Amino acid sequence: MQTSSSASIRLAALGATLLSLVAGPAAQAQGGSEPMALQTIMKQLDRDLQAVTGAIAVEDWPRVGELAPKIGRHAEPAPAEKLRILGWLGTEAGSFRGFDTKVHDAAAGLAEAAARGDGAEVIAAFARVQQGCLGCHQAFRQRFVAEFHGRR
Ligand code: HEC
Repeated sequence: MQTSSSASIRLAALGATLLSLVAGPAAQAQGGSEPMALQTIMKQLDRDLQAVTGAIAVEDWPRVGELAPKIGRHAEPAPAEKLRILGWLGTEAGSFRGFDTKVHDAAAGLAEAAARGDGAEVIAAFARVQQGCLGCHQAFRQRFVAEFHGRR
């Protein structure tokens, strides 16, 4: 009797530990106390894109060429955050990654066009970059914010 009840207490304690391991980070993010790296990366992408717009306006192709790789090779969240996001994405992870790849490929095209000084192609490639941003945002952003920040 005694052994079985202390065993069930141990089991309950183990369950609580496991639960806090799983729920801990998500609960923290929902409180909004700890900003996610993804959000910081997005803000940097936004600044880099605006800088490209400015460089295109003055036809500064070398500057576009410098900025394009920053967009294509943007930072990534730490493994723990990545796992959390991938776990939430589940079967949609492929689609999410697809938009990221679209941005990477378009940024590579942007760099090549800038290296040739081909203004029309720079603008076309820049539009493809933005289509990658928009596509992912339309598919995921609202749900992501609701899940990880608990707001809309
Ligand atoms: C693979 C998906 C994906 C791609 C591609 C993507 N984003 Fe995002 N973006 C997100 C998600 C998810 C959020 C919501 C993040 C959050 O609020 O924590 C977001 C949020 C943002 C935000 C708002 C950040 C804030 O201050 O709350 C900006 C700005 C942004 N993205 C810019 C960009 C730009 C520019 C690109 C293209 C170069 C881009 N994103 C490409 C998924 C993506």
